[in-house]
Amino acid sequence: MGAPRYDIESFLAQISINKQMEIIRTVAELQKKLETARQNGSIGLVPTMGALHAGHKSLVDRARVENDTVVVSVFVNPTQFNNATDLATYPRTEEADRAMLEACGADYMFAPTVEEIYPEPDTRVFELGAVAEVMEGAMRPGHFNGVAQIVSKLFAFTRPTRAYFGEKDFQQIAVIRKMAELEGFNDLKIVDCPILREADGLALSSRNIRLTPEQRTVAPAISLVLRSSLIWAKELSLKEVKNKVIATLNMFPFMDVEYFEIVDAHTMQPIGEWTDSDCPVGCITCYCGEVRLIDNIKYPCAV
Ligand code: PAF
Repeated sequence: MGAPRYDIESFLAQISINKQMEIIRTVAELQKKLETARQNGSIGLVPTMGALHAGHKSLVDRARVENDTVVVSVFVNPTQFNNATDLATYPRTEEADRAMLEACGADYMFAPTVEEIYPEPDTRVFELGAVAEVMEGAMRPGHFNGVAQIVSKLFAFTRPTRAYFGEKDFQQIAVIRKMAELEGFNDLKIVDCPILREADGLALSSRNIRLTPEQRTVAPAISLVLRSSLIWAKELSLKEVKNKVIATLNMFPFMDVEYFEIVDAHTMQPIGEWTDSDCPVGCITCYCGEVRLIDNIKYPCAV
């Protein structure tokens, strides 16, 4: 007989959670429910845009373990899309999301309408500084301001003890930390959670379902090349590794690297030498056909 497993994932898989999850559509109702919850303990918030997958589940599982009440927001935020087609084609799967969240034991799914969140246009401009100016910030003008708008609203409505974000969107976490600092969300802990991957290495993303079967077979090349770059980094200069990652990926069919930058994990600023940062991270955005995929890799300190 094998040794019993006591890790939290097998524990969560074995217990059946009977409590009914509530779906909340309005801010007023959310705030009312959370007023009581706050008196009873901590609140964990998992902001999402829906189309939930195992990556989101890992955030909800962690929030479930660490908090008394768990709220998951499911809202495709229009202000963070700078491309109308991307917004229109973003997958919306509310019924499946509801089922997954209920099975995870979330207490509340907050799924408001656009009018509820933005009764009038949000004209706030956040001074996010350098962390928001490079990479995604440079490629998607206005994107991070939109993220700051929605996440600041969710923080204000929910006043969570902890908020959970996936490291696949590595730069987004730095931007949200900056927004939290600017807006004075000082008591709230931002928890960054590791990337979840398919067995072949592809980082889980709601966009993966838009890959054709042929593209899906090629898409894991992104993580494969990033992992290979850990080995290349032992011998090559930072610039050589950068060029090799881009050139190698672009040789695959469907693949078109938009950018690959090696940045400092705190400032998000590109570095020129391995020794320029104690935490270098390689951040990539690569098109696979029409689908824009992102991923990243942490290099050992001072390789
Ligand atoms: O990462 C996402 O899914 C979104 O950017 C977020 C944080 C839920 C804000 O809409």
